[in-house]
Amino acid sequence: MPESQPHILVTGATRGIGAAILKSLTERGAKVVGHGTRAAPGILAADLSQAGAGDRLWDAALEVLDGRIDVLINNAGVFEAIAVDAPDADWQASWARTMQINLQGSADLCRRMLLQAQGRDADASGLRGRIVNVASRAAYRGDSPAHWHYAASKAGMVAMTKSIARGYAGQGLIAFAICPGYVMTGMAEDYLASRGGDKLLADIPLGRVAQPDEVASVATYLALDAPASMTGAVLDVNGASFVR
Ligand SMILES: NC(=O)c1ccc[n+]([C@@H]2O[C@H](COP(=O)([O-])OP(=O)(O)OC[C@H]3O[C@@H](n4cnc5c(N)ncnc54)[C@H](OP(=O)(O)O)[C@@H]3O)[C@@H](O)[C@H]2O)c1
Repeated sequence: MPESQPHILVTGATRGIGAAILKSLTERGAKVVGHGTRAAPGILAADLSQAGAGDRLWDAALEVLDGRIDVLINNAGVFEAIAVDAPDADWQASWARTMQINLQGSADLCRRMLLQAQGRDADASGLRGRIVNVASRAAYRGDSPAHWHYAASKAGMVAMTKSIARGYAGQGLIAFAICPGYVMTGMAEDYLASRGGDKLLADIPLGRVAQPDEVASVATYLALDAPASMTGAVLDVNGASFVR
């Protein structure tokens, strides 16, 4: 894996945490391509709710990144409510969509990262690739009654990350997960408002929600600096609102 200028794909990089990750990695000198649902300068379009979109995104990113992706950051995700008493078809559709975007899309990209790693030379430290998956505190703590599927998708992401770390460290592919609590992005603002703001903040010992650049600094560390022996680690960024 070349060490000079890492080539990195960041999904969900149009706003929020992903945009902060993209900015941070670019400032560190990495060659980064972002992703969102609509194309823009430096952003590839792929709707991960569609089967196969992860694979198509991988191919498009490889083209932009001169045929190699050293680090994959799976950050794209949705946090959409579905009531337990919703019509059956709506309930099924909401679960399918959340699992497809949050988990299957990430899994497809992780798989392509592994297949690439298996066909390339290792760098001086023996690595052939890094994966950083942005999961959630919900993976461990659960979420609201309208977000079973969100919590399940993120728990799946953590389990997938650990499986990859254990399965392929010997082949030079390492993997990490980040579990943010509330982060002040559009998504969190909606959530804070729907939960009555201050009451929710009282549950965070730090007294505030995280900022996107705090999560970005952890993602940047894992993408560029974390030692290989850390593979399989899951890092919390939640102001001690949930301590494992
Ligand atoms: N914010 C929080 O409180 C919080 C807490 C824990 C974990 N997280 C996780 O952190 C990650 C980023 O969260 P955020 O708050 O920064 O999110 P955000 O501001 O809502 O941005 C979501 C990103 O995902 C992309 N995306 C949405 N639907 C997509 C689809 N169908 N296909 C492809 N891309 C899609 C969006 O692209 P467009 O702009 O094109 O829609 C955008 O780039 C997510 O995985 C989230 O679950 C967030």
